[in-house]
Amino acid sequence: MKKIGIMTTGGDCSGLNSVINRVVLGATKRGWRVYGIVDGTDGLCTCPPNVIEMTTDTIPVENARIAGSFLHNGNACMMNFENAAETGKIPQFNKMLKNSLAKLKLDALVLIGGNGSFSLSYKNHDIYSGLSLICIPKTIDFDIPLTDKTIGFDTAVNELTRYCDQLLLTARSHHRWFIVQAMGRDCGRLALNAGTAVGADAILVPEIKFDIDKLVKHIRAVPRDYGIIMVSEGITLRGHSGRPADMISRKLTAASIQNRAAFPDYIQRAGDTTAADRILASKMATCALDAIENNETNVMTALRGNECVTVPLSEFYAAGDLSRDPNIRDLCTSNAYIEPDDPLLDVAVAMNIYIGETK
Ligand code: F6P
Repeated sequence: MKKIGIMTTGGDCSGLNSVINRVVLGATKRGWRVYGIVDGTDGLCTCPPNVIEMTTDTIPVENARIAGSFLHNGNACMMNFENAAETGKIPQFNKMLKNSLAKLKLDALVLIGGNGSFSLSYKNHDIYSGLSLICIPKTIDFDIPLTDKTIGFDTAVNELTRYCDQLLLTARSHHRWFIVQAMGRDCGRLALNAGTAVGADAILVPEIKFDIDKLVKHIRAVPRDYGIIMVSEGITLRGHSGRPADMISRKLTAASIQNRAAFPDYIQRAGDTTAADRILASKMATCALDAIENNETNVMTALRGNECVTVPLSEFYAAGDLSRDPNIRDLCTSNAYIEPDDPLLDVAVAMNIYIGETK
């Protein structure tokens, strides 16, 4: 009988409870015991480690669709990788994590996280040397390389689309444009997908340069006096500061285009988990349990077409664009962005959506 741990780290998104529920279901069927680590690595730093034994009743099936994480994602006030890096205590912190995991005598740990957590795990793999580490990718930003989907992305696209659908109704009444700021950090995939879904007239993403005059010209040519302009939170405008949607709003106001900036913010992370994300959760949980059975370690589950496979964390790390983590000195994270050949870019152009200065 195996003993496995499960934890959620980094920013939350919808679908975390679905993954936890499916891991517990699958592990129980195999006769294994599951221990939920509360508050991610923070829970491992308390003495004794903050864990709860999980059964199929801990997250009842009807609650598995609810956003957030039943296990929490970490407490900013506690000792964590960020604080440890800031105070030069990474070696001590790593030792503490390793000791806690040893105390729990786990055979495996399922880590549901994003590219920051995976990069940290890859760089500090000694922490997990005594067990099988299986990572499941979750993020609304969908900025993790080598997987066709991440948990939470589909729900975020749906929530953002729904938000814009409602805005369009009031936009029409008042003959005004809404500049909607999407989350996503420096990856524009959330903005691109939701913008296409809602029928935005322009989508500005960090990966593609745009020209304000051309944006204004494009909006003026739209045979409507209202609509959505989707902007990713990662875009910049030379010589301007502040929130990207506000910057674009000021420019449009200066061009006499009636508009308002709108900020869906954290609702993008908090919608009820879509069926697509729940199916993905089921596939990734099954893949993770199979990987534990096969004694794999330091791998990430990844969707390839319809199939879920495992990918070594070393490949994940090598495949992405490495950029310095803003919060952790000495750490580079592996990131994915909109690829120049993403078919959705061509679709957006064909729909007469202004997406910037593409070739
Ligand atoms: O990475 C997920 C994400 O929601 C980003 O899209 C957003 O920029 C960020 O987290 C917000 O982080 P925080 O919870 O620290 O405000």
